[in-house]
Amino acid sequence: MNRFLEKAETLDKTDPLKRFKDKFVANPSLIYLDGNSLGKLPVKTIETTANIVENQWGNRLIRSWNEHWIDLSKDIAAKIAKIVGAQPDEIFVGDTTSLNLYKLLFASLAHQKEKSEIITDDLNFPTDLYIIQGLIKQQFKHHTLKVLKSTDEIFMDTATVSEAINKSTSLITLSLVSYKSSFLYDMKTINNLAHKNDSLVVWDLSHAAGATTIKLNETNADMAVGCTYKYLNGGPGAPAFLYVRKDLQDKLTNPIWSWFAHQKPFDFNPNFIENTGIEKFAISTPSILSLGAIAPGLDIILEAGMSNIEAKSKKQSAFLIELIEHYLVPLGFKIASPFNESQRGSHISITHNESYRINRAMIAPKNKTTKIIIPDFRPPNLIRIGITPLYTSYLDLYEALIRIAEIVTAKEYENFSTEKLTVT
Ligand SMILES: Cc1ncc(COP(=O)(O)O)c(C=O)c1O
Repeated sequence: MNRFLEKAETLDKTDPLKRFKDKFVANPSLIYLDGNSLGKLPVKTIETTANIVENQWGNRLIRSWNEHWIDLSKDIAAKIAKIVGAQPDEIFVGDTTSLNLYKLLFASLAHQKEKSEIITDDLNFPTDLYIIQGLIKQQFKHHTLKVLKSTDEIFMDTATVSEAINKSTSLITLSLVSYKSSFLYDMKTINNLAHKNDSLVVWDLSHAAGATTIKLNETNADMAVGCTYKYLNGGPGAPAFLYVRKDLQDKLTNPIWSWFAHQKPFDFNPNFIENTGIEKFAISTPSILSLGAIAPGLDIILEAGMSNIEAKSKKQSAFLIELIEHYLVPLGFKIASPFNESQRGSHISITHNESYRINRAMIAPKNKTTKIIIPDFRPPNLIRIGITPLYTSYLDLYEALIRIAEIVTAKEYENFSTEKLTVT
């Protein structure tokens, strides 16, 4: 038997997390390697959301606000707090990642008015960069932005960050795990560098939450945002979260004054009085249907344990790199993620001149009996292979790699157009 296949089967047999795969809806005709973009549907979510729709909305109607809904966001926040190493009253769940980022970046810049420099990097997600650009253009007109340059869009040297931060630095905002290369910052080191210069840090945890161990309190993190639809399996467009360290909450103001940021929204007072604590960062009526869908995914992570998930992710990543080096590097692929596991999240990016069409051939094989493999594509030429240890098996990785090699060797990708679909 092929030594990689044998290894995959042995590792699957002894995998301590293998029972968790059954907690997600099965898709036997495909291998899903895009949990870093949209997590799979937990089986329990079907029942949970049906109950919210049919019973809570259908039968109980508006009475459900007091019976179930008004504290739903707090219940979810308490679960997310455990996953990211924070206290329940330091997490708010609601709105979107972009909106939460806007609130926190605005609040931090307004708080440190005497400092005028903002630092980010070229590994950051576009929305994060756009929000900074917009804030400078519209509100903080005398602020300047330094975008740190990574090595080949893969890796950032701590020395580069250290040299950039100085006493004029108001704010540093970075993705803990880069959506492109999967590069993982050392959160503690960056927080310390910032704090030595009295600068604040806002982390984007979207590609890290549920994928890697995060210790917001232990690393003395200031602020963070993150989405719940990737490794947290909360569902498409599920509400995001934000974190503000307890002692900073009183010092910061949500720039969007709205009724859910008010101390007593249901007094209907015509004048705004800012709420205290993390709740001041709310804006609007919570999106109950999508909020309710988040809980089952979080419960699975809490049951499996973040340290077990991370350990399997590292083991699977090492296996995947072995496979890539053996099967794909000779076919013109390169690895575009850090090799050092302590500097990597839970996806591995590979590049090839024909990445887009290879990606299409994986997802939509012309031969209907061929297994569908779903990774994703990011421009200019990245195929991201997402490892979600709760439902990815070693055999999945082996089969996916054999399939990629087959597509390239037989030039199957030539059957596909280079024209990009709207969502890649
Ligand atoms: C790292 C990162 N930040 C922010 C976002 C945007 O999130 P949202 O659409 O919730 O604003 C994404 C979306 O994928 C992301 O990957």
